Parts: sequence; C-alpha cells; structure tokens
Amino acid sequence: MKQIILTGVKPTGTPHIGNYLGAIKQAIDLSKNDEYSTYYFIADYHALNSLKTREEMRRYTKEVACTWLACGLDPEKVVFYRQSEIHETTELCWILMNVTPKGLMDRAHAYKACVQANVENGKDADDGVNMGLYNYPILMAADILLFNTKFVPVGLDQKQHCEMARDIAKYFNKKYGYTFVVPQEKIQEKTATLLGLDGRKMSKSYGNQIPLFCSEAELKKLIMSIKTDSTLPTEPKSKTSTVFEYIKVFASPEKLAEMDRRFDEGLSWAEAKQELFNIMNEVISPMREKYNYYMEHYGEVEEILKKGEHKAREIARETLERARRAVGVIE
Ligand code: TRP
Repeated sequence: MKQIILTGVKPTGTPHIGNYLGAIKQAIDLSKNDEYSTYYFIADYHALNSLKTREEMRRYTKEVACTWLACGLDPEKVVFYRQSEIHETTELCWILMNVTPKGLMDRAHAYKACVQANVENGKDADDGVNMGLYNYPILMAADILLFNTKFVPVGLDQKQHCEMARDIAKYFNKKYGYTFVVPQEKIQEKTATLLGLDGRKMSKSYGNQIPLFCSEAELKKLIMSIKTDSTLPTEPKSKTSTVFEYIKVFASPEKLAEMDRRFDEGLSWAEAKQELFNIMNEVISPMREKYNYYMEHYGEVEEILKKGEHKAREIARETLERARRAVGVIE
C-alpha cells in the first residue's frame, strides 16, 4: 500500500503568482512521485468562515479548481475533490470533537490572533468569533484522518494545525484503540517569497498582487507598474529589486545569466520590465490557455471533481465506519 499524501486548498481568493510559486507548483511536482497516493481537495467548508457571500464561494471554488488543473494537476493520478461533497468529513469531525480538549483549541494561532486583535481594539474578546473559526482545526483533523494520511504538505503557517491533527489522532487511538494513521506534516520550504508590486508583502489587503491568470495585457500593465528606484536608464540596476527577484524566479538559467549581466551593465527599467513580461508570459501563457478553457467548460471540471469524490468516498466510508465502530455507535 502506498503512503498517502493529502492537502487542502482554501478557496478564499483569486489565485495569484505567489500562490503558484509558494504552494501550487510544489504540490503538483510532489503529486508526480509514484511512491505516494495523492489526495488534493478544495477546502470549501474551511473557507466558509472568511467568505462574505455565496457568490464568492461559487467564484473562488471555480477559479481554484480551474487553476490547479491548468497548472498541471493530473486527475488520473491525484484524487481531486471538494471537501463539502465528502459528508463523512463533517461526521468524523463531530466524533473527533469529543476527544479534543477545549484548551487545545484555545491555543490555536488563528483564534488567538482574533482574540488579541479584539482586546487591542477594546472589543469583547470573542467579538466576531464564530464556532467555525474555533473548531477549524478539528475539521482539518477530520480531513486528514479520514484518508489515512501519512504526510501533509503545507506551508509553515499550517504547522500548528497539523500538530493538532496528530494530537487528536493520538487521543482517539489511546482512548479507543488504534484507529487512525498518525499524520506528519511536511513543511514546504518556500522556494521564493515574492514581494508585491509596491515592494511590500504580497497581500490581498494591499491590492499589490498579480493574479496568476489575468490577461496578457493586464499582466503587462501590472509588471510595468512595479515600483522601481530612480536610477538613470544607462546605470546598473539593483539585483535586490522586485523586478530582478521576479526574473530570478521565472527565467531559465541562460536567460537569468543574460539578465544578470545586463543589470550590471545598465539598462532602463522599461527594458527590464519588458524582458520580465516576456519571461513571465512564456511560463504562464500555456497554463493561462488551459485555465481559460476550463473556465469556459466548467462542466468538464465538475465531472473531474465528481470522479474524485467517488474515489475519495471509498476510503472515507471505510475510515468513518472504523471510527463509528471504535466509539460503539455501531456493532
Ligand atoms: N487550513 C489549510 C489552509 O488554510 C487548508 C486545509 C484545510 C488543509 N484542510 C486541510 C491543509 C487538510 C492540509 C490538510 O491552508
């Protein structure tokens, strides 16, 4: 039996190039390793407590699904599904709540950050905190434990959640006998942290992101708007600049060597940005074509997700039954 790798993606925004480099690309590369069975899913129920409208849920779910397929996720290899379709998840979540100490949830970073912000703003500590936020780590444990997951590839921000899933598995196994595989996080080292267009951290709230699949014209416009210094067109250009950082990430080794030399010799920012556009567009445009195709033929994507759900449900059923038997609600 192959070991299982599983990760979830929250549909909370339009995927941007930071998401691609930080998570999507690595996860897809990992899924090509035949040593593992891979389960990747859209964590729509996890997104529920941060999305404001149903339209956002519809839109981001669609965009995220199309993005992963466009970036090369192979649905023959990866079990790709929507979390909310696997009803076993929420059922297991309830069972797991009963072995999860409240104190463990009180220590969750996301919840604590919310409370702290409230206190700092002179509000009631639990202002705006709903039980979806509070129980978030237990739902995540259910996602993970349901599939006998061994490894969970995630960014550092999800380390604590994975540790909690591991703790919850152990609490359960201790009380009811061995039932769940005890999972292990696999922290994805950041290959690069791309700054936003204005040189600050790339963030939705700063509006300085580059959507991964904006149109070619939009991509060009955004690249041209990257903040630069006021060196003259003939002067050498900084290699700690945002423009060069992007070049480093997207260019082939040969192109990078060429750009490195030209930055030393001096070129105008306009030329540098034009080069950057060409470099990025070459990488992105084949994926963009697929993305646009899937967005226009979303029925095909839904078919793919449905197939994934069927495969996922086989294991989900088995595990849930094991858990229900362990706690004694069935014989
Ligand atoms: N909480 C994760 C995030 O915000 C998403 C997620 C939900 C997840 N369920 C998961 C990741 C299970 C790994 C495994 O990014």
